[in-house]
Amino acid sequence: MKILVINGPNLNMLGVREPDHYGRETYGDLCEKINTYCSQKKVDVTLYQSNHEGDLVDEIQKAYGKMDGIVINPGAYTHTSIAILDAIKAVNLPTVEVHISKVEEREDFRQISYVRLAAKKTITGHGTDGYLEAIDYLTEGK
Ligand code: DQA
Repeated sequence: MKILVINGPNLNMLGVREPDHYGRETYGDLCEKINTYCSQKKVDVTLYQSNHEGDLVDEIQKAYGKMDGIVINPGAYTHTSIAILDAIKAVNLPTVEVHISKVEEREDFRQISYVRLAAKKTITGHGTDGYLEAIDYLTEGK
């Protein structure tokens, strides 16, 4: 099973940015956590982060025919990007949307998620464990 884990803008600043919302783990810590989990589960994982919307679209398109599923935290593009929604629909791969913070309890502008319209599941507010839950969902259907 091959899974692509995509992180959008500012998630490379984890550990530094707004720790009350996103905790103290760095992006490097998150990558290590996902890699360790996936090697235990014998999942072939690819990690990708970009601050640029078009690069995220390109990476989703590259997954077509190569990956079995996508875990995505689109960061702020969650709330604005029809292009990312369309890319997920285009490749038609099972996709889980993850947010580290509990977006539903935050500002009004965070209540819209375009990506959610194409996601099989959305996980919010479980910190970085949400990524592991998303991998469980894609590999075990739960
Ligand atoms: C986030 C929530 C978004 O609203 C925000 O713009 C982010 C991170 C989360 O992981 O909680 O960058 O996706």
